[in-house]
Amino acid sequence: MDLSNFRMSFTGSVHSMRGPVRVAILVAGFAVSICRGSLSDQELIELSKDSSAIRAGKETYQNVCFSCHGQSLEGGTGFNLRDGEWVHGSSPTQILASTAKGFPEKGMVAFGSVYDEKTLENMVAYILSQQIGFRGLSYQIFHSAATNVPLERLTQSRPTKSGVLPRNFADEKLTDGDDYAMVFQGTLIVPEEGRHFIKVSKGRQDEVKVEVDGKESRPIDIGNREFQYAVKNGRQQVRMSYLKRDANPRFEVYLQGDTLYEPLSVSARNRMLQTNYFVKADDRPIVIRKKIEHLPPKSIGVGYPGSLNYGFSPVTNSIVGLWDGDFLNVGPNIDGRGKNPSRILGEWLFYESPGIQVLVEGEPFEGDFVKYTVGDSPRFEYADEKRRVRVSASPNGLRSIRFHFELEGFGRKRITLGLPEKSLNVESKDGAVLVGRFIVDKAKRSQFSITVTK
Ligand code: HEC
Repeated sequence: MDLSNFRMSFTGSVHSMRGPVRVAILVAGFAVSICRGSLSDQELIELSKDSSAIRAGKETYQNVCFSCHGQSLEGGTGFNLRDGEWVHGSSPTQILASTAKGFPEKGMVAFGSVYDEKTLENMVAYILSQQIGFRGLSYQIFHSAATNVPLERLTQSRPTKSGVLPRNFADEKLTDGDDYAMVFQGTLIVPEEGRHFIKVSKGRQDEVKVEVDGKESRPIDIGNREFQYAVKNGRQQVRMSYLKRDANPRFEVYLQGDTLYEPLSVSARNRMLQTNYFVKADDRPIVIRKKIEHLPPKSIGVGYPGSLNYGFSPVTNSIVGLWDGDFLNVGPNIDGRGKNPSRILGEWLFYESPGIQVLVEGEPFEGDFVKYTVGDSPRFEYADEKRRVRVSASPNGLRSIRFHFELEGFGRKRITLGLPEKSLNVESKDGAVLVGRFIVDKAKRSQFSITVTK
């Protein structure tokens, strides 16, 4: 696409379409911001350091773009907008052009006819401020005629091939054969907040070395042939060396943080896409019994990816966590193996035990966990000899979930729900929401629901 032409026609159409608006704004005295030309790459980069522009851009993004591009820009129907892979151009002005022109044939409207230029620029500033992963990634391939040459020596020899990786994902499958090593080198962008690691999954005999700004990063063995390498916040030069030696070679690389799980290699990306695809192809909830970070042992996770997900504890018979985003990361315990818990791929609304729990005359109902049934809406059931409680949930739009409670055999006892201490946005027509408590109306005692909204 010829960008300069496009940008001219875009500016032109804004001016003609926005005629009346411009007049109104002129009167209000903001003419300058509308009439000036588009910002340059450098100016947009500057804007991406301006916290009020970022805040304004984030607001628009979270209202409009998140439904396709994900709440954390991680992608969904639309592409991931935070990684180093750009299909329609990665420069700030190209991102602005993509946003303004849209991809109507793919379902994304031309936002240039919806928003003024300032709003679009702020949105691009926000997108730029959220960038993570590799940029300017290059590779070198080393082969050796002799076997068992150590990684260090092999990578000091002359590369047999080298080049750039325009998608900015490390790709160990660019070559094959038995003894080979690869070096990937580029700028890694890490979020400014929190602690982050490069996580590498490798074959047993494979060798990996990671250097950050010229210094070797010491691996932390987290089991299951997975290793974490500490990285700094912000931008840094990273060099990853990989020697394929195992019969089942593997080099899967992620950027991992408390709430972040981002692929850095093609194999990692494919694995995450498969999982996402699997999840999105099937709109039904997923139910998973595996260790989830911050939730008590044995909790069962119910995922409505893209909406809200929750954890149910069959020990306390209560809802012990609620989060948004893409359910869980696929590692480190992909099949429920491993000692490390899975992490959520979004934000917690709460995690707390007992969390949301049915109380009878103010005391927890101590029934035994009976079972859960999986279907359109998974249902958890617990009971004692005479009484039974069933808990189910259904998403209510993208930011809200309805929990439904069915009670049998409680007669005229007073029923309340204990709520987490952390303040939650709870609504219900079936009773009164107080701090830390929901009091069920007498008439609704055998069937009631609450809606929690983000
Ligand atoms: C209805 C879904 C939808 C919405 C809403 C949406 N997009 Fe998109 N967006 C897409 C799709 C689909 C693509 C990929 C187009 C293609 O296949 O080439 C895309 C691509 C893009 C790209 C190009 C990415 C690249 O790799 O080059 C940018 C930038 C972008 N969108 C920004 C935005 C912004 C900013 C918003 C909010 C104002 C937004 N989008 C809202 C669906 C959407």
